[in-house]
Parts: sequence; C-alpha cells; structure tokens
Amino acid sequence: MYRITAREDLAPVTKLFVVEAPEVARKCKSGQFVIVRVSEHGERVPLTIADYDRQRGELTIVFQVVGKTTAELSTLGVGDSLASLTGPLGLPTEIEKYGTVVMVGGGVGIAPIFPIARDLKEAGNYVIGIIGARTRELLFWEDRMRTVTDELIVCTDDGSYARKALVTEPLKELCQSGRTIHRVWGIGPAIMMKFVSLTTKPFGIQTIVSLNSIMVDGTGMCGACRVVVGGRTRFCCVHGPEFDGHEVDWDLLMARQRIYLDKEKLALERYQQLCEAHRETVH
Ligand SMILES: Cc1cc2nc3c(=O)[nH]c(=O)nc-3n(C[C@H](O)[C@H](O)[C@H](O)COP(=O)(O)OP(=O)(O)OC[C@H]3O[C@@H](n4cnc5c(N)ncnc54)[C@H](O)[C@@H]3O)c2cc1C
Ligand code: FES
Repeated sequence: MYRITAREDLAPVTKLFVVEAPEVARKCKSGQFVIVRVSEHGERVPLTIADYDRQRGELTIVFQVVGKTTAELSTLGVGDSLASLTGPLGLPTEIEKYGTVVMVGGGVGIAPIFPIARDLKEAGNYVIGIIGARTRELLFWEDRMRTVTDELIVCTDDGSYARKALVTEPLKELCQSGRTIHRVWGIGPAIMMKFVSLTTKPFGIQTIVSLNSIMVDGTGMCGACRVVVGGRTRFCCVHGPEFDGHEVDWDLLMARQRIYLDKEKLALERYQQLCEAHRETVH
C-alpha cells in the first residue's frame, strides 16, 4: 500500500502528496517519474518525482487537476492509499558540472525542475532559475526554488505577481546578455517547452526538456509514448523523459496529446455527474 502521509493544496488546481514508497525512494533520481493508480481498475497516470526522502522512504508528487483521474486523485487525503505506484521509471537527469545553467519551470513544471536544480547546484553549477505561471494563485515553490538557485526570476503571464512576462522573455534576455550559458532545462506544458527550445536555438545553447507524451505501461512495451526526436522514433518512457529540445518534433507531440481529447472530456463529465448524484443521495 502506498499511504499518503501529507497533503498540501499549492493552488486551487495544484495538489502535493507525500507518499510512503520506500523502495522507490531508495532508488529514484531526479528527472525520473512514477505511474500511479487511484483504484484497482483505475487509469495509470504518470507523474514526475518532485522530491524524495530516502530515510523516511517517502516521495513527493505534485499534480494538476486536468481530467477525470487527477480529479479523483485530488479527493484523497492523509491516511488514504494509492492502489499502485510503479517506478522509478525513465532515465535520470545527467547531472554534471556544466558551468552556468538556466532552469525554466512553467506551471506545474516548477515541481519537477526543483530536484534537478538542487542536484545541479550541489554539483557546483551556477544556477539561474526562471519560474512562471498564468497567474499568482497558480505559482508555488518560489521559496524552495530560491534555496537551490543563485538567481531567481519570477513571472506571471497576467502580471498579478512579480514580473509580467512569459518565461521565455527573461530567458531571451539572458541569452542576449552575452553571459555564457552552458545548458538550459525547460519543464512545463509542451507549448512552453517548444518556445523555450526555439528561444535558445539561435544561440546554440543545449536545451533539455522533459516530454509529457501519452503513456500507458511506462515500460517500453505498448508504444503509446512514441515521440520523434532528431528524425528518430523514441519511446519517452524508456529513452526519456528528457530529450534535446532542439531535436523534438513538437507539432507531432502536441497533435498526439490531443488524440483522446473528446474521450477525456466525456470521462470527466461522467465522473462529475457521478459525484453530483452521490452528493444528492447522501444529503
Ligand atoms: C513522464 C510524465 C510526467 C508527468 N508529470 C506530471 C507531473 O509531475 N504533474 C502533473 O500535473 N502532470 C504530469 N504529467 C501529466 C499527467 O500525467 C496528466 O496530467 C494526467 O495523466 C492527466 O490525467 P487525467 O485523467 O486527469 O486527465 P485526462 O482528461 O485523461 O487528460 C488531460 C490531459 O492530460 C494528458 N494525459 C492524459 N492521460 C495521459 C497519460 N496517460 N499520459 C500522459 N499524459 C496524459 C493529456 O495531455 C490530456 O490532454 C506527466 C506526464 C508524463 C508523461
Ligand atoms: S508508455 Fe508504453 S512504451 Fe512507453
């Protein structure tokens, strides 16, 4: 059983769970992910490991409520258990002393970029962080990011907090400033990662992104997570999730992410109707 030992509502749609998973916590590294199921017959949802505590045997996951399964997940609390948690999956981030690195986290992508930034700082890099969200209430972990960065730029799309900008604006300024940047990481929605990659490309700065392709088994068997990188078909769950952002076929990735949109919408509507009917029966 994978018991939830802490829960925090980071934003109205962003939830944090600390989960007991000693075997995964012992082995996992930054950049890897787990696949969780809320119930025995539930859908498998891939979530990046946002933090881990090897001694306590616990993992931190942060997720955004976007559809049926994440809505169901958000109803759990301390003391509840996940039906399954599989991992660690995917290749860990390559941590080295590169020099100056820029870590760009967008929306819920701030959570997975945090442990990578921490490891890169510990490896002796000068770490510049850029974090952003659509609006102030969706922004979280500014304090945590400050502890693992040498400089931190905070933005909101609507200007409700800190600088009014998309994360790519300060990134472009940094690239143009003449400072030597050895590597950039971008984690967030696919559209953000695409534009982070397009921003750094003219400057020839190696850019790593963490792809959130559609996944099913997470073991390289089903082929659901295929992406095209550098003209080659890759399976995100075993060859990734991190790839060279300049090589990713972004239009294909985004088109594949939309494949099940109608079914996902229907599943959420049905789940909401079921919850409503249950509430009416109880009251
Ligand atoms: C390696 C990886 C790491 C991820 N890490 C995080 C994370 O740390 N935090 C977070 O909030 N989200 C993360 N995601 C996305 C998360 O898995 C989806 O938000 C979740 O599956 C949505 O499920 P749903 O049933 O609530 O929504 P649905 O209504 O089923 O889908 C809503 C959207 O979520 C995406 N999605 C749905 N099913 C899958 C699936 N099986 N695999 C991948 N994407 C899917 C699609 O883009 C879809 O349009 C990650 C995805 C991958 C592949
Ligand atoms: S999720 Fe099935 S092959 Fe990657």
